[in-house]
Amino acid sequence: MTEGIITAAYIIASVLFILGLAGLSRQESARRGNIYAMIGMLIAIVATILASQVTSYAVIFSTMIVGIFIGLYVARKIEMTGMPQLVAMLHSFVGLAAVLIGFATYIDPASHYEGVAKTIHDVEIYLGVFIGAVTFTGSLIAFGKLQGVIDGKPLLLPAKHWLNLSMILLSVLLLFIFVDAQSISSGITPLIIMTIIAFVFGVHMVMSVGGADMPVVVSMLNSYSGWAAAATGFMLSNDLLIITGALVGSSGAILSYIMCRAMNRSFISVIAGGFGASEGMAVAKTTGDEEQGEVISITTADTAMLFAEAKNVVIVPGYGMAVARAQHIVSEIVKKLQGQGVNVRFAIHPVAGRLPGHMNVLLAEAKVAYDIVLEMDEINEDFPKTDVVLVIGANDIVNPGALDDPTSPIAGMPVLEVWDATHVIVMKRSMAAGYSGIDNPLFYKENTKLLFGDAKESVEGILSEL
Ligand code: TAP
Repeated sequence: MTEGIITAAYIIASVLFILGLAGLSRQESARRGNIYAMIGMLIAIVATILASQVTSYAVIFSTMIVGIFIGLYVARKIEMTGMPQLVAMLHSFVGLAAVLIGFATYIDPASHYEGVAKTIHDVEIYLGVFIGAVTFTGSLIAFGKLQGVIDGKPLLLPAKHWLNLSMILLSVLLLFIFVDAQSISSGITPLIIMTIIAFVFGVHMVMSVGGADMPVVVSMLNSYSGWAAAATGFMLSNDLLIITGALVGSSGAILSYIMCRAMNRSFISVIAGGFGASEGMAVAKTTGDEEQGEVISITTADTAMLFAEAKNVVIVPGYGMAVARAQHIVSEIVKKLQGQGVNVRFAIHPVAGRLPGHMNVLLAEAKVAYDIVLEMDEINEDFPKTDVVLVIGANDIVNPGALDDPTSPIAGMPVLEVWDATHVIVMKRSMAAGYSGIDNPLFYKENTKLLFGDAKESVEGILSEL
């Protein structure tokens, strides 16, 4: 394939990626956006394989076939609740690829440059490897935290900011040594040392983040993986990779900003890696077994009775709804209540579940109409006028401690103020804490009742009573 055709294919793919992103910004057009992006990726892959630099197809096709089968297997097998971990794992692959390509490009005798071109090329390699290494280990730790194999509590090493700063300064120093090196054998040592530092930096950065701040980390790693891909594009002089990486990097950065606003965290402190519980803050309790009073439980029959008498109902879905896969039955309940003239709406907190937009995806899958799915800012003022709030497997996002307890690890995070409604029903299986590991004073309020049990079984019970 000639260079001209490849360039044209890359431009078409880039436009399709941009259309894809634009489509993903609204639920109604998300499916179309995905299709654009898939076609763009297909064009990009075919054009790249047919480029003149590719001299042997055997390795490419054999690895692609293995990759296709692993991808298909994982995509079919993955539960909706495992999606965040999968995304974290995929980010780590991008990071590792950037590291490997950086090293391969550096030791490749064919990519030999002189003078300023050598300096620029070396800086591209160095930055690509650095960002890639941070993304790789950071994403692996994020995977462990989301999977629950690594403790969600923040690791608070003494002088953690100094540690981060010294690792960055050392990496800058090594950059000068690396760029100055006149041979591959003398440049490879600073590159390897920096890679190890960046691996440690990635681990430390994510380990020091508290449970409730994980959404910011997930979107930041998303952004880092984009910049790692863009840096790889510079190393390989591949325009499409630069564009794609920049799109992912900048959209991830915008998402991080939105997440920071939702969590009431400062973007600058997030970039500096100084987020999570600060030294002075109370560290989250892990069990939530320090009880604050009596809790009142309720049955599915009594819950259905409250619904029957209600005019305005708000449903707050959380991570537990995803675990129980209760969304389809919830959708049935909504139809039933609407048939009886009840005004039913959903209230979505920006960090509900474990992935940005997690709840929206589940509700869309269950064919809930978009116009009754409202964001926190749109519905928070309506709770005093609401008869019944049904909280399905949500916890941290409805914790009043975020507003009235300054020592809470989630202090300052805006939450859904469900306690202002006449009745609040919370579905959960036990008195266990939510993701951030803290107790929830909502459960002990007078107008709150707990409907214990698996959320799917509970909503099935309510539906049959209705
Ligand atoms: P959580 O605070 O994690 O609470 C989930 C609740 O669901 C728990 O109280 C749990 O109690 C209950 N539950 C679990 N399985 C259930 C089942 N099968 N049936 C009924 N209840 C079940 O969830 P949330 O309120 O959605 O808050 C999200 C949290 O995750 C925030 O802290 C947020 O920062 C964090 N986070 C979010 C993201 C993104 S981007 N959204 C990413 C990482 C972390 P039981 O165990 O007693 O049933």
